[in-house]
Amino acid sequence: MRTINSIKKSKAQTPLVVITAYDALFAALFNKKVDMILVGDSLNMSFNGAGDTLSATLEMMLYHTKAVCKGAPDTFVIADMPFGTYTNEQDALKNCSRVYLETNAHAVKIEGGMERANIIKTLTCNSIAVVGHIGLMPQFVRSEGGYIVKGKNEQEAQKLIEDAKAIEAAGAFCVVIEGVKAEVAQRITEAISIPTIGIGAGSQTDGQVLVWSDAFGFFEAFQPKFVKQYLDGADLVKNALDAFVHDVQTRKFPASEHTY
Ligand code: KIV
Repeated sequence: MRTINSIKKSKAQTPLVVITAYDALFAALFNKKVDMILVGDSLNMSFNGAGDTLSATLEMMLYHTKAVCKGAPDTFVIADMPFGTYTNEQDALKNCSRVYLETNAHAVKIEGGMERANIIKTLTCNSIAVVGHIGLMPQFVRSEGGYIVKGKNEQEAQKLIEDAKAIEAAGAFCVVIEGVKAEVAQRITEAISIPTIGIGAGSQTDGQVLVWSDAFGFFEAFQPKFVKQYLDGADLVKNALDAFVHDVQTRKFPASEHTY
């Protein structure tokens, strides 16, 4: 099982593998197979059917994090802090403490760069392990007017590098880089000594994360360019459901071997 220390030592080694999970069932499938599981607030879209992550609540995240920790007791679990739960140091400490008090998560993740450095410092000084998140930050979708890829010019690249340095200095042990031009993600990775975990950020980060329902083809609403689909999950389920419907309607199920 990974620890903060072994994750930090993974800088520039074999890439770290991170996948999201929202429930005990899938967490159990991922247990021991990946370096970290992220209980992402993306669950608000794929699991809860909302249009973005913003209406995810702390209660939702606590519920799902508890379930994931039960399903994957041997894997390092990160709980995403939802929108509005870390707007100032006091709220951040209170709400992140609830994650440690009420779940077995090992770390929390918060979105934002240098403007969140004080918050990250308050958390890390109070023994809470923090993962940063920079670049395309889904919690900024409304204030930025969409999901906008970052690092498209030198000014943006410099800002991202400064953000990553501020997050590292504040005590975060790794940082997610989302939706950033590959060469800029590489420059960020080279500029800091904590591991970077990329999503839509090219191949040169210290690890990769994917949302499980994207990677396994269950989320059909849209498919971002950066997702590689490893399974046609939705088709498999729909075909299996068709077979079940057919068997029930034709009285093929239950057969004698399913009958007491
Ligand atoms: O919520 C989430 O799943 C995330 C990943 C996209 C990194 O933050």
